[in-house]
Amino acid sequence: MNKQTIRHLIEPEDFTIEELNEVVALGKKMYEAPEKYKEACKGKILATLFYEPSTRTRFSFETAMLRLGGSIIGFSDANTSSVSKGESIADTIRCMSAYADIAVMRHPKEGAPKLASHYASIPIINGGDGGHQHPTQTLTDLLTIKMYKDTIEGHNVAFCGDLKFGRTVHSLIRTLARYNTKKFILISPEELTLPDTLKRTLKEDFHVELQEARYIEDVISQIDILYMTRIQRERFFNEADYARLKDSYLLNQSKLSHAKKDMIVMHPLPRVNEIAYDVDDDPRGVYFKQAELGVYVRMALITKLLGVDVSC
Ligand code: NCD
Repeated sequence: MNKQTIRHLIEPEDFTIEELNEVVALGKKMYEAPEKYKEACKGKILATLFYEPSTRTRFSFETAMLRLGGSIIGFSDANTSSVSKGESIADTIRCMSAYADIAVMRHPKEGAPKLASHYASIPIINGGDGGHQHPTQTLTDLLTIKMYKDTIEGHNVAFCGDLKFGRTVHSLIRTLARYNTKKFILISPEELTLPDTLKRTLKEDFHVELQEARYIEDVISQIDILYMTRIQRERFFNEADYARLKDSYLLNQSKLSHAKKDMIVMHPLPRVNEIAYDVDDDPRGVYFKQAELGVYVRMALITKLLGVDVSC
């Protein structure tokens, strides 16, 4: 691949709205008829470079590439690679560029996938970098919203939980603002509110109204899409703060009884103690479907970044 023309996905802004729409639409087509694409990436190799734990992101990427007829290599524990010997990201990625056609990287340090993209001669996808960005979760979320709500724009969206460290929130809220969402409800403990810089961008660049709330109960009746998140234990500086905040929110049937009948509850997963099991059977709880849809939108993304023709 020509280094100059390679596309990476490091943050959602790397794609225009038209491109996001294109990936979401293709993801929907792939969900509806996956067998049509079973040879689309025959002979291609995806590398999964996971320096931080993952279940859905890594496995859905691997499943996506396998469903496209390609192959996978990679590590899910950097200690089993030469990283444990002190190898730099730059050197690792230069070599992986010779072994694979495309790579997804998750890293605890913000900016690591961006750095990797400077040294790569293959497309690099950010699979989550610290508390920063998680663009492929955003694609998954956009497809989920499209499937359940028909349009991505025009809904009353609330984010609940760890808005400070939650990278899925940071990526999705900016993207929904780009889709012209003009108001968000932010439900979090005082210590875990959305970072000030992000709030400023939303207000000044996108003219968005931010309504802050402390309890789900106070606002649930207004919400169309409730995006729940886990308190990000691994990003806390001390365990005592985590212990104090970890059970701040639990969505259950009793709270849901005050919600709209067509509200949807999303969650990037894993849940820890934010959604009671009694919500799982409620048609409004769409988080497992959301995780499933992640495979198809990642199939669409892989074909886009590889420049594979899927016009079948
Ligand atoms: C999220 C992540 O890793 O940021 N999980 C995911 O990719 N689906 C959310 C989380 O870990 O809380």
